[in-house]
Amino acid sequence: MGAVMKERLRLLWATAFAAFILAVDASFVEDLDESFKENRKDDIWLVDFYAPWCGHCKKLEPVWNEVGKEMGSIGSPVKVGKMDATSYSSIASEFGVRGYPTIKLLKGDLAYNYRGPRTKDDIIEFANRVAGPIIRYLPSQQMFEHVQKRHRIFFLYIGGESPLKERYIEVASELIVYTYFFSASEEILPEYVTLPEMPAVLVFKDGTYFVYDEYEDGDLTAWINRERFQGYLNIDGFTLYELGDTGKLVAIAVIDDKDVSAEHGRLKSIVQEVAKNYRDHFHRNFQFGHMDGNEYINSLLMDDLKIPTLVVLNTSNQQYFLPHKPIESTEDLVQFINDILEGTAEAYGGDGILQRIKRIIYDAKSTVGSVFKSSPLLGCFLFGLPLGVISIMCYGICTADTEGGSDEAETSKKETTSRDLTDEGTEEEQEEEYSESPVELPEREQEQKTILEKKRD
Ligand SMILES: *[C@@H]1O[C@H](CO)[C@@H](O)[C@H](O)[C@H]1NC(C)=O
Repeated sequence: MGAVMKERLRLLWATAFAAFILAVDASFVEDLDESFKENRKDDIWLVDFYAPWCGHCKKLEPVWNEVGKEMGSIGSPVKVGKMDATSYSSIASEFGVRGYPTIKLLKGDLAYNYRGPRTKDDIIEFANRVAGPIIRYLPSQQMFEHVQKRHRIFFLYIGGESPLKERYIEVASELIVYTYFFSASEEILPEYVTLPEMPAVLVFKDGTYFVYDEYEDGDLTAWINRERFQGYLNIDGFTLYELGDTGKLVAIAVIDDKDVSAEHGRLKSIVQEVAKNYRDHFHRNFQFGHMDGNEYINSLLMDDLKIPTLVVLNTSNQQYFLPHKPIESTEDLVQFINDILEGTAEAYGGDGILQRIKRIIYDAKSTVGSVFKSSPLLGCFLFGLPLGVISIMCYGICTADTEGGSDEAETSKKETTSRDLTDEGTEEEQEEEYSESPVELPEREQEQKTILEKKRD
């Protein structure tokens, strides 16, 4: 009896201690409630809007505590908080939260969305960048060199007050979520930089610099969106998603990074060379890079590409192009790209209705396939059980009285909300969904009407 008591006591202590550690850890992150709306105004806030049941949110939690701890220890003016968006849904929706977790930096009337990788360093870098001044002034050549060492890409405005500067500030206050914006006077520039005219906007990247030309490059926002990536990238799923905003075609060498045979390395260096030497010809329309492994690209394209290979993806409409013969020289690649530009290369995929249906079938197939592969028994259970439940439900619906109509409407409403919540897609996608709902509503009403009419009969 005594031993059991002791054991219990020890357990109690252990739990209390763990709770204490957690409390210490979490104390850097403020738990926000409805008072946040009033109290936040004077501060800059980095907030994680989460839902208690969401898996990605749980994965973010330890990272978030680390973020809070580090921001606290470096004495950042940014306060870190989290809000259960399901308990305070009206506040969350006021801030435009539509998926979980949503990370936002709130600064006065402005709210900036974080969309990068959910790691401590990336999140902190984002918070420091966005919380600071939109345009950072570089007073000296030393500062310029310092910035050049620290950032692989940054934009710089040279000159005094001008309409171009006003525009630059306007664009920067939106695109600060992606990259850095500086301003300086001409004297601080190194000698190798020559400006055709003043004022000027430049981008420093790829070991060189490029000057914005209003007549050739068009709108400043579009130019910055095109130029905010390095000329050659290591591409993963996230980068591809980001590149979607640029409307560019992405030429990807799909290779095995660990394979040291000449083939893989050669394809990569061909793409690198074209990216560098043909920049003037292609950079407006093309982004170059390589991707390690073919698994991601195959599931994206629903194709069966063998590595090493080259694929050109149109991020605006999901079409892709494959060369007829292997790319063995820069000339081959240049020829292939020109074929695409001239419209003579054959396009695969796309975002048409057939492709969408193919996507649904493909996703279902690969989910079922992977479950059965890893555990056949579980597979039978997982897919057998819902089938059984659905049959019972069908039976229930067929035999139930017509009250079922409103139930049905509610279920489909639930479905749409849960889809909204998990959706992490772009805003356009979400808007698309919103514009769909008015079409859905009359249909639902129609359904209920027919049911009512039936009842009357
Ligand atoms: C890429 O897709 C966009 C949108 O559908 C289209 O306007 C553009 O012509 C496509 N580019 C090529 C090279 O096919």
